[in-house]
Amino acid sequence: MPILKPVGMDLTKYGPWALVIGGSEGVGAEFARLLAADKFNLVLVARKAGPLEELAEELRGQGAEVRTASVDLAQGDALAQVRKVTDDIEVGLLIYNAGANNTRGLFVELPEEVTGAVIAITVLGQANFTRHYGALMAGRGRGGIILGGSLSSYLGSPTLAAYTGAKAFSRIFSEALWAECAPLGVDVLHLNIGFTATPAMARLGMPVKLAEPPETVAREGLENIANGPVWIVSTPGNVERARLIGGVDNRAETVRAHAIAPRDRTAQAAKEHQKLAGS
Ligand SMILES: NC(=O)c1ccc[n+]([C@@H]2O[C@H](COP(=O)([O-])OP(=O)(O)OC[C@H]3O[C@@H](n4cnc5c(N)ncnc54)[C@H](OP(=O)(O)O)[C@@H]3O)[C@@H](O)[C@H]2O)c1
Repeated sequence: MPILKPVGMDLTKYGPWALVIGGSEGVGAEFARLLAADKFNLVLVARKAGPLEELAEELRGQGAEVRTASVDLAQGDALAQVRKVTDDIEVGLLIYNAGANNTRGLFVELPEEVTGAVIAITVLGQANFTRHYGALMAGRGRGGIILGGSLSSYLGSPTLAAYTGAKAFSRIFSEALWAECAPLGVDVLHLNIGFTATPAMARLGMPVKLAEPPETVAREGLENIANGPVWIVSTPGNVERARLIGGVDNRAETVRAHAIAPRDRTAQAAKEHQKLAGS
């Protein structure tokens, strides 16, 4: 990978270490690459050790000091596991990126471990990691926290109850935290992401050619870390969709009309759109 154009992140405010949760691929990997270009050291967390080590080697080749932790965020000891590699360093930037959802279905029918993992990763994970690293940042009077969000946070969508509910938690939690942390010198941003071309989406068969590149999303997140509490990625249509589905009136009609379509239907519609555009 070529070294990315640096964002110009302030190492004295957000460094010297950045912790990227879900930092082995997609948006998380791009956050790591951009931060390495800005001379940050990195702690990368994900489940699979292979991709973590591969990215770590790439970033070490660019001069960054890199630590990795292979941890499942759905497990109750996730923070304790990550702390084993961060307790002796100064984490000035926490990026909690992991949190996609790969299983859809009725909440009352899905196995408890499926919906429980979504809630553990996004709700408990964002809260627990923020409490720990945010308290250390507040003690130093400087730092930044980016919490991974989604346009889905504006609408409770059938077959995605745990996911959309968890992302709504993240957005509202971030707003309150932003107001609490600003006077303490810590920036908080909920990065509200639309359709993005991540490996996770590609594995689900989504038409990622039409999606936002992960580097664009990560770059916008870093560039706007001080523009919280919420930053909606500037892909055309994202802000308009948030306005359309996020209002307070006629919620029953809005939920019925704007439910996120099942993935096979979305993929089919995108393919038809592509065919028409090409003809
Ligand atoms: N892609 C989109 O279209 C889209 C749209 C809206 C919002 N978002 C948000 O953007 C963020 C990134 O999404 P994504 O599509 O890249 O998929 P993702 O699965 O949330 O993120 C991928 C990264 O997280 C790690 N990860 C996933 N589950 C984990 C777990 N249980 N424990 C530890 N690490 C875990 C993955 O590595 P391992 O698999 O090795 O663990 C990988 O490094 C998420 O918060 C998602 O909700 C994405």
